[in-house]
Amino acid sequence: MTSHDSSHASGARRRREAALFLWKWLQAPTRIGAIWPSGRSLARAMAAEVDLAVPGAIVELGAGTGSVTAALLQAGVPRGRLWAVERDPAMAAVLRERFPGIRVVEGDAGDLAAILRGEGVEVAAAVVSSLPLVSLPRALVTRIVEGSFALLHPEGRYIQFTYGLISPIPLRRFRLEARRVRRAWRNLPPAMVWCYRRLPDHPVVRAGG
Ligand SMILES: C[S@@+](CC[C@H](N)C(=O)[O-])C[C@H]1O[C@@H](n2cnc3c(N)ncnc32)[C@H](O)[C@@H]1O
Repeated sequence: MTSHDSSHASGARRRREAALFLWKWLQAPTRIGAIWPSGRSLARAMAAEVDLAVPGAIVELGAGTGSVTAALLQAGVPRGRLWAVERDPAMAAVLRERFPGIRVVEGDAGDLAAILRGEGVEVAAAVVSSLPLVSLPRALVTRIVEGSFALLHPEGRYIQFTYGLISPIPLRRFRLEARRVRRAWRNLPPAMVWCYRRLPDHPVVRAGG
């Protein structure tokens, strides 16, 4: 295959993925949370926050058609360490085809700790989330955030982007501290990457406990 053929093929793939995104958004806008996949600058800013020296899995939530997944792999995350959780079956199928060797879990991020323990994952070094937290039901957000911190290593980080101006996770409610990492101005719409960790008095709740 020439480089012209391969760039033509990846252009066609991107168009197919953008069409799938738009179609899914039309069906369930609050669940998808974006009209098209994240751009490269946003995906790279998310991936740059992952510290591979921390032990455990790298868990991606709401992997969609794989924009952030691709950036994580480019940033050096070994395929065997990467779990991608996606609720939509058509998007999960895209992920499986696009990224052989990573674990794609078709399921609800609200059941994260149980799902991953079922896969033999006891600890995560990072949770990298593109979930549309601000438009998901409050009870589901609670399950996602508590489940993530139940899995995260004490030095682990929860990384999240948002199109909003404030933290998409209420800090006091979850006993977390947050850092605004970077605004990806070139993303459409521009997005902010946030990085969260436990406060010293964070109540570490084991999932189901
Ligand atoms: C804003 S899109 C991000 C997709 C991709 N990571 C990107 O940045 O282009 C959010 C994704 O989260 C998925 N999603 C929403 N709620 C979910 C849930 N409870 N569990 C797992 N995935 C969910 C949607 O299906 C969608 O693919």
